[in-house]
Amino acid sequence: MVKISPSILSSDYGILAAELKRMEDCGADMLHIDVMDGHFVPNITLGAPIVKCIRKASSLPFDVHLMISDPYKYIPDFVNAGSDIITFHIESDSDVGKTIDLILQSGKKAGLAVKPKTPVEEVFPYLDKLSMVLVMTVEPGFGGQSFMADMMPKVSAVKAEIERRGLDVDIQVDGGINGETVCIAANAGANVFVAGNAIFTSADAKATIADFKAKASV
Ligand code: DX5
Ligand code: ZN
Repeated sequence: MVKISPSILSSDYGILAAELKRMEDCGADMLHIDVMDGHFVPNITLGAPIVKCIRKASSLPFDVHLMISDPYKYIPDFVNAGSDIITFHIESDSDVGKTIDLILQSGKKAGLAVKPKTPVEEVFPYLDKLSMVLVMTVEPGFGGQSFMADMMPKVSAVKAEIERRGLDVDIQVDGGINGETVCIAANAGANVFVAGNAIFTSADAKATIADFKAKASV
């Protein structure tokens, strides 16, 4: 199933609650919340207290992307803040298995992300427990970067492994998704599309989301 997850990194943080509501009204399937600690990536965004405050602005699933060095330590905070799916990086300092288990024990869905230089095969040992694999299509840290088409073999490889094992795991792409690259990623096997700039700078976000969904439904 194709899902579009607007990244609030490109939204107006001064009116965050209204931006979430607007995305819901425009047909978003979930809301992608980028959490950066200025350590794992060279940028700082927001933390669990803000997630908690905006939780009441939308009934859509919160797709929380943790770009932080020690996700394990902060899982309880993001669980209590109302996250639905919590994705963290395999390159982080936390124990990957323990972090996934903590997310699952908390009743939430777990996602595992790989940066561009990380082979996607590194997530294979954890696939059985995951709801989503995030293949980054830019170096994490900033919105508005160019899509890395050379990540597509990773998307296809993880899709093949998911199918081989008969699992139900979403494949998310994040970074540089627009009206052209959404087709490339969908053809490679992705089904969850994060888009920040393309949606938030659109004069008609509703049409953009509908366009992405139609193009991705291959
Ligand atoms: C980058 C973030 C992305 C970012 C995508 O580190 O993880 O979610 O917001 O932004 P665009 O769609 O503008 O590339
Ligand atoms: Zn993200």
